Parts: sequence; structure tokens; C-alpha cells
Amino acid sequence: MNGGIGLEEEKEAEYYSKDFEWEELRSHVENDPSFSHHLLPFQPQPQPQLLQSDSHAWKRFHIRHSSGKFFKERRYLLKEFPELVSCKENSKVLEVGCGNGSTILPILRGNENIIVYACDCSSEILERAKEIVNDSNVVALRNRFHPFYCDLSVTRFPSWLACNQCRDLNLQTQQSCLSDVRINNNNKANSDDAYSLEGSGCCKGGVDFITLIFTLSAIPLQEMPVSIKECFSILKPGGLLLFRDYGLYDMTMLRFEKSQRVGFREYNRSDGTRSYFFSLDIVRDLFVGAGFTEVELDYCCINSVNRRKGKSMQRVWVHGKFQKPI
Ligand SMILES: C[S@@+](CC[C@H](N)C(=O)[O-])C[C@H]1O[C@@H](n2cnc3c(N)ncnc32)[C@H](O)[C@@H]1O
Repeated sequence: MNGGIGLEEEKEAEYYSKDFEWEELRSHVENDPSFSHHLLPFQPQPQPQLLQSDSHAWKRFHIRHSSGKFFKERRYLLKEFPELVSCKENSKVLEVGCGNGSTILPILRGNENIIVYACDCSSEILERAKEIVNDSNVVALRNRFHPFYCDLSVTRFPSWLACNQCRDLNLQTQQSCLSDVRINNNNKANSDDAYSLEGSGCCKGGVDFITLIFTLSAIPLQEMPVSIKECFSILKPGGLLLFRDYGLYDMTMLRFEKSQRVGFREYNRSDGTRSYFFSLDIVRDLFVGAGFTEVELDYCCINSVNRRKGKSMQRVWVHGKFQKPI
């Protein structure tokens, strides 16, 4: 499958891994005429018919791969994001676009006191993720794993996770720069009470971490700012968004044909699922534009060997950590 989703992402790699310099790859790609179609400005073609939304392609994808074995557990994840282990007891994580649980499992295994919320736009894969997690030997799973349906390109996160009042409160807390604003029952401010709302039954009060692992690239570029803003709104002040996704000039991008382009650095796989390839500048603009502070951002460049085909492949991923200001 051209530009297909491979299992290559399971290879252990750390964000500071540099099997090669990204700038050297960039220079090679930008000077090789056979790659010139990836560099041209994108001219939208008139669509013969209204295309179904991208999440439909993902729903079909998960039905076709119903064994749920297409993605592998991301064993490297906690090395990349050790704060998922060292965080305080009962910290809450939201994994957006969880698929079969490749990211959920290492988090639950690595920290017995963490609570994981996980959403996807496919009910089929959520059922599969539940089975996989339940069948795993994760300790004290009860009440620690909460999967739910959410198509981020059409809806907001549910209000039981963070209600409007708590979202506003988080914003106020931020905007007031921790001035001594107090909240009373009329919703007129007190930063201590912002946290007392948690557990009062109105909602879960937002989350401490969000993981966006190979999910943002599946969402059309023009929808990304709204999706990131939505992530920002349910994160607690000081919370971290942990990001990993396809990087510009990754080998899977260079395999796409010209006819598969659906935007600049955006491609449709033959199964209809979409993939965008990120430069650091675009990632920075998207997250900082939504209000986040950059903590870490770099290319991870790995020479990966496909043992079956005996071929070496230059893989590029973007690793990022972004914080919601306190
Ligand atoms: C490449 S998979 C990544 C899965 C998982 N995060 C991991 O670490 O393996 C992308 C996932 O995003 C989901 N997805 C795509 N578009 C979505 C949307 N609009 N809302 C929620 N989930 C979406 C897909 O169903 C798929 O499970």
C-alpha cells in the first residue's frame, strides 16, 4: 500500500535519536527531481462528488483490520515521556485517537496510579481496545481505563470530562495570572475553588496530560487548529500535551504518488485515510497559536531496516511536548 501505515513506528527510537541529520535529508529531497511533486504548491482539483469525511475512512479501516493487531504496543513511549510515570497519584491522561490501545497499554502498565481516558472516532476499535486492555495483565485496571467515542473533527470533548464552567475557569485562572481571584457559586472566581470543583460532580475537571500520538496527522490540516484548541481547553493549567507524529520527508511521504496529494504535504492513502507530514515550524505554529508553551520539539531521525525486504528506510518523526501555561 503506497504511503501505508506500517508497523515501523514500533521501532524503539528516542526524540533525540539522530541516525542522520534532517537538514541533509531535506537537501537531498529538495534537489532530487523525482521528488519535485512533493514540493509544488498544491492546486485543489474540482471534486467529482462530495467525499465522505476522513473519519469514515478510519471507521472502514478499523472494520477491515478488526483483529486490532495492526498497531503494536509502543514500548518506547515512557522513555520519550517519562512524566507519565513520575506524575502525581491519580493523574489523568486523555489519549486522543487511541486506536486499539498501542499508547494506552504502556501508560497503564508503567504507572499503577494513573487514570486513562481514551477516545476514537471508531466504535469498533474502541470495543477492540477494551478487549485488548482487559486481556492484558495490567495491574489494578478497574476504574483506571475509560474509553469513549468522540470524532474530534465534528464534536467537542464530552462535558463530563471538562464542563464549560471548568473550561472557563481554567482560562480565567490563566488569564488572571493567578491573581487572587475567588470563585463563588455565582461563578465569580477563586482559583482555589477551581480545583474544589473537581469531585463536586460537575465533571472530571479536565486532564493533566493529553497524548496525541500519530493522530493529528489523520485530521485535515485546516481542522487542526480547532482540534488543538479543544485539547487546550480540557487540559488543566500546567498540564502537558505529548505529541509524536510523521515528520516532513519521512520515507512514507516520499512514497506517495502525485495523484494522492490532497493538500500541501497532505496525502490520501489508497484506503482513504489521510496523512499530513509535519515540519517543526508548522507544529510550533499550531500549538503556540492555540496558547501552548513549547517545552521540547525536534525531529527524530532513524534508519530503520525492513528485514523482509532487506531495505533501509529513513524515518522521520516529530517529537513534541507543549505545556498549558499556569
Ligand atoms: C494512526 S492511528 C494512532 C493510534 C494511537 N494513537 C497509537 O498510538 O497507535 C490514528 C487514530 O486516530 C483515529 N482518528 C482519526 N481521526 C479521528 C478523529 N477525527 N477523531 C478521533 N479519532 C480519530 C483513528 O481512528 C485511529 O485510531
